[in-house]
Amino acid sequence: MAENKIFIFDTTLRDGEQVPGCKLNTNEKVELALELESLGVDIIEAGFPISSPGDYESVNQISKSIKDATICALSRAVQKDIEVAAEALRYAKRPRIHTGIGTSDFHIKSKFNSTREEILERAVQCVKWARRFTDDVEFYAEDAGRTENEYLAKVIEAVIAAGATTVNIPDTTGYCLPHQYGEKIAYLVNNVKNIDNAIISCHCHNDLGLATANSIAGVINGARQIECTINGLGERAGNTSLEEVVMVLKQHKNLGYFTDVKSQKLNPISRLVSETMRMPVQPNKAIVGANAFSHSSGIHQDGFLKDAQTYEIINPEEVGAEQSKIILTARSGRSALAYRFQKMGFQFTRNDVDSLYDSFLKVADAKKEVKEEDLLELANQYQKETVSVA
Ligand code: KIV
Ligand code: ZN
Repeated sequence: MAENKIFIFDTTLRDGEQVPGCKLNTNEKVELALELESLGVDIIEAGFPISSPGDYESVNQISKSIKDATICALSRAVQKDIEVAAEALRYAKRPRIHTGIGTSDFHIKSKFNSTREEILERAVQCVKWARRFTDDVEFYAEDAGRTENEYLAKVIEAVIAAGATTVNIPDTTGYCLPHQYGEKIAYLVNNVKNIDNAIISCHCHNDLGLATANSIAGVINGARQIECTINGLGERAGNTSLEEVVMVLKQHKNLGYFTDVKSQKLNPISRLVSETMRMPVQPNKAIVGANAFSHSSGIHQDGFLKDAQTYEIINPEEVGAEQSKIILTARSGRSALAYRFQKMGFQFTRNDVDSLYDSFLKVADAKKEVKEEDLLELANQYQKETVSVA
């Protein structure tokens, strides 16, 4: 089966940077953009140039620094926005303008006090305007997740006819279930006559924790681009996490998709983004969390020590993480204790470990985690006792 490439559109510097407290200056943005390029992402959404002079400058500087990736700038369906985006992108080797408008009735009525017909017309006009500046125009139908499919298909057909080369179907509020989002993409594939002239993109938010599942459902149903961020950063509960979708597609090769992301760089870039944005990563975060490759219960530790694959589906090296860890707690068993002593250079027999285990449990019950210094104390105490008995 021929494998299908999935384009990775990184929006850490735009949607990710919208997180309160995560604002970046131009130098930080350029540094991260260079790292994103070497990670292997296809498109970097660098910012929203009309939003502030600082963001304009960042898009401008990133456009000068990046050689291979497409640089994308966001705009509303407003002529001035599009012009400013085009101006900020003028040095980019591959510039993309990302323009669009809300298409759900919530947006049409509450936000724009408008009608479906007027919104459709504005959508077409903004794409036509953007095409004056670049051949690479992406249209977003904001809140597509809650937009009625028939109307959405009409808008998408019209913007492709107007020149959109990528059509973004955002689940802006993170509302959809994976099968619903997948069906929405399938509906567009089957009902938009000119759909083959554009790439369908998934842009899923994580309000219900479904962003990764929804993006994968989108791909399975015909989307070929995923919009995502490092560490899943983004508005409210965040966006689809880049490291998760990349590894889902890599682990499930039988789905028949690949990305150009170099997975060994995932943990280093996660740490860099976390430090630069001053936004810690939750320890249990898939792929890049501190506990993603830690084993702490006795049953798991015993299985892992016999064969890592018993409890690990990814080799930590593959995602640039530190070696798997055996954490000692009151739930740990003798094999884990023996393993940790052995790693520290002690040559204890099975009987020694059996004798040490009770004292270990006392320390473990008193502490959350038994650390190396505790083990050293236990070992020294044990050695003293056994020498004095002899
Ligand atoms: O979530 C969203 O709908 C967006 C668009 C601006 C693409 O971020
Ligand atoms: Zn978004």
